[in-house]
Amino acid sequence: METARPLLAVLAVLAAAAAAEPLVHCPRDDRLGQCVGEAFLRIIRSMATGDPGHGVPKLDPILVPLMPMSKNAGKVLNLNMTFFNLTIEDITHDVTLKSAKFDYDKLEATLELHRPLVHFHGSYKINGKILWLPIWGEGTSWMKMTDVGEVWHMRAERAVAEDGRPYMQLKEYTSTLSPGAMAVHYDNLFGGNWVLGQGANTLINSQWKVIYQQLQPLSDGHFSAIMRPYWADIFKQQVDLDRDFPAPAAAAAAPAP
Ligand SMILES: *[C@@H]1O[C@H](CO)[C@@H](O)[C@H](O)[C@H]1NC(C)=O
Ligand SMILES: *[C@@H]1O[C@H](CO)[C@@H](O)[C@H](O)[C@H]1NC(C)=O
Repeated sequence: METARPLLAVLAVLAAAAAAEPLVHCPRDDRLGQCVGEAFLRIIRSMATGDPGHGVPKLDPILVPLMPMSKNAGKVLNLNMTFFNLTIEDITHDVTLKSAKFDYDKLEATLELHRPLVHFHGSYKINGKILWLPIWGEGTSWMKMTDVGEVWHMRAERAVAEDGRPYMQLKEYTSTLSPGAMAVHYDNLFGGNWVLGQGANTLINSQWKVIYQQLQPLSDGHFSAIMRPYWADIFKQQVDLDRDFPAPAAAAAAPAP
């Protein structure tokens, strides 16, 4: 029992140190890009449960109340489509980093990420034409993207917070998702006509690539707009440019090549 007290004291100190540890700590050396990529990857992974000590919210799943996806030009799609109460799941699970670049002077980062799965489900309304097929209905739908590549890009500017701390003020944020495969299902198409609905779902699944190509600018735009404010907040609240990106240690301290 006597050892319990010092142990608790040590744990308390460790907890405090952990909370104070910066989210990003990357010296401006040859490993800067990789270090920043790994730090941002840790932030994405921590969105699975949230990390309140570092101002990272829980963002898996995300609920999107309204996502309009209408496309009224072109040969492939001429339709009005809206998703309601869309749940996006698995965006944090088993994310891996493929490559990372970070330019400290421009505060610009580009990451290539990979996810095994992103899962969407919610309500939809659809009316229009997909390829040659007139389609209409409302109900629930789901979509699974697998083998999903993401190009994640941000650019920030140096700004000074109220407390005098230089932080990254987010200016550009885009995320582009490229699934290797996709499966989609719309329930209750054509007022519940099962045969027509089955036919439409088969067509959509067999032609997912050309359909996704048409919708991708819209969906990437939505996802970027959803995630952008969270990143802007993390960069504003958590980053101290001078503390988190120190000048590299003197050349003498660096290991010989
Ligand atoms: C979305 O969810 C809200 C709140 O739960 C509900 O009032 C609304 O009817 C839902 N919309 C659709 C289209 O399901
Ligand atoms: C989509 O909605 C717009 C605006 O409400 C309407 O003008 C257009 O005819 C609709 N298109 C289809 C294919 O339903």
